[in-house]
Amino acid sequence: MKWNMNSFQTRKVSAQATSARFFGVHNNLVLIGFMGSGKSSVGRRLATKQRKSFVDTDAEIVADAGMSIQKIFSQEGEPSFRIRETKVLQRLVDYEGIVLATGGGIILREENRNLLHRIGPVIWLYAKPDILFERAMRSRKRPLLLVENPRERFESLLAEREALYRKSADVHVDSSYLDHEETAAKILEKLNLEI
Ligand code: S3P
Repeated sequence: MKWNMNSFQTRKVSAQATSARFFGVHNNLVLIGFMGSGKSSVGRRLATKQRKSFVDTDAEIVADAGMSIQKIFSQEGEPSFRIRETKVLQRLVDYEGIVLATGGGIILREENRNLLHRIGPVIWLYAKPDILFERAMRSRKRPLLLVENPRERFESLLAEREALYRKSADVHVDSSYLDHEETAAKILEKLNLEI
């Protein structure tokens, strides 16, 4: 499936996700990928380039819960975090004019995969495992990698999820040797959208 400017007429929306709410034709882009794939940084650039609002599922969850991702994991557990992710996506299906960056585990629930497609074309950002691991470990805030052997955990999560990312995405983009700006440009090129 190809997208072009006609199906993605840019609407003026404010920086606040709440004001991007629109009932009707959407106009969104959805980024999925493993921790460290650059979804948030690339998503921000995409939003600027396309004059859309940037929304991040993790930030929405933190705002809803009034606590950090680490705290949600430690106090409520991962299953509760996954339910929170679904709730955010359910709300976002009505939004228009957003670039959505998602948490790395968003593709684990089938319901989420369906919701993602309702929000917009889904782009999988990936990179070579060594590069991904190095990027993922730059932040010490990721509860799933705060373990004794993060490389082992990383490998097993990646193995468990790779096929899900692949099948959940309409477009695949390798960001291994690209900076965020170049990755954003590559995505727009693949979607046939103006750079
Ligand atoms: C997670 C990835 C994180 C965050 C949470 C769980 C995952 O987001 O949602 O820590 O399951 O891979 P990023 O992919 O933005 O790091």
